[in-house]
Amino acid sequence: MTWLITGGAGYIGAHVVRAMAEAGERTVVYDDLSTGLAERVPDGVPLVAGSTLDGDRLARALAEHSVTGVVHLAAKKQVGESVDHPLEYYRENVEGLRVLLEAVTAAEVPSFVFSSSAAVYGMPDVDLVREETPCVPLSPYGETKLAGEWLVRATGRATGLSTASLRYFNVAGAAAPELADVGVSNLIPMVFEKLTENLAPRIFGDDYPTPDGTCVRDYIHVVDLAEAHVTVARALQSSAGHDLTLNIGRGEGVSVREMIDHIYAVTGYHRPPTVTPRRPGDPARVVASADRIAVELGWEAKHDVEDMITSAWAGWVRTHPEAART
Ligand code: WQD
Repeated sequence: MTWLITGGAGYIGAHVVRAMAEAGERTVVYDDLSTGLAERVPDGVPLVAGSTLDGDRLARALAEHSVTGVVHLAAKKQVGESVDHPLEYYRENVEGLRVLLEAVTAAEVPSFVFSSSAAVYGMPDVDLVREETPCVPLSPYGETKLAGEWLVRATGRATGLSTASLRYFNVAGAAAPELADVGVSNLIPMVFEKLTENLAPRIFGDDYPTPDGTCVRDYIHVVDLAEAHVTVARALQSSAGHDLTLNIGRGEGVSVREMIDHIYAVTGYHRPPTVTPRRPGDPARVVASADRIAVELGWEAKHDVEDMITSAWAGWVRTHPEAART
């Protein structure tokens, strides 16, 4: 098998490439390097620089590397940005996927793994979100991921392509400092940034109907997430006709306040947080039921929140050496 990993030079993609390689799978990275970094691609893994909107380039890459499966992660992923630039998100995330699926079916590639998101659920009013919980996305970003799932499933049904859509919950951590997320758009790096600048970390609202009033999320280590891709890829390759939709989370809720306390413990900083008004569109609680993937494929997460923060902090200190405390 050779797997084409679109977005393989990105934060999550690079972890998937690494996990695939460790599992003995051959990979090729396809990435437009708009946010991906070529240095994240390991030696010996070919890197094709190209956009998923470029059908000819995709067709050539699939043929030249005799690709037999695709893991599609290349996408835009910022919720707020998607509200301001919806057409860009629909173009990259939906049209890019449509062009890719066209190339994949023309080349008769048998397996396809799609990177989806818990954002498809929107504001779920349940304790644990199951895959059959209704999907009511709240942002253009979430809409493009849900539309993507529809495209993938419909193509599978029409052509026999074996498919899986993986709904990631809140991804964090790194396998190594140089693979850490360099963006500052999620809770952990945003708290790191404030602490490094000797400012108070912010809690966006503490009047939610949760035990401590702050939002509860299901944080998943990127190393576990990458392992889940290997498990799913192998399931697709072992038998045809799959049409999987799977949550990738730990099934454990952690509040913003609890996360900040963990961050203090790991980093040695203790500046108390400031509570600001709620951030518009934030659901009070989004926690996965991780049962389906456990029952169907035997996968479950191994790393806890401490591991995520410790490894994310090592990555942060690498790029912000002034943050280190002895
Ligand atoms: C987590 C919690 C904030 C920063 C988003 C997408 C989701 C997924 C992951 C990709 C929230 C609170 C944050 C801060 C805070 N992406 N917060 N102070 O919003 O749960 O999920 O990223 O697929 O689709 O929606 O993640 O890390 O931004 O926030 O209080 O300085 O931390 O309000 O409750 P979110 P996040």
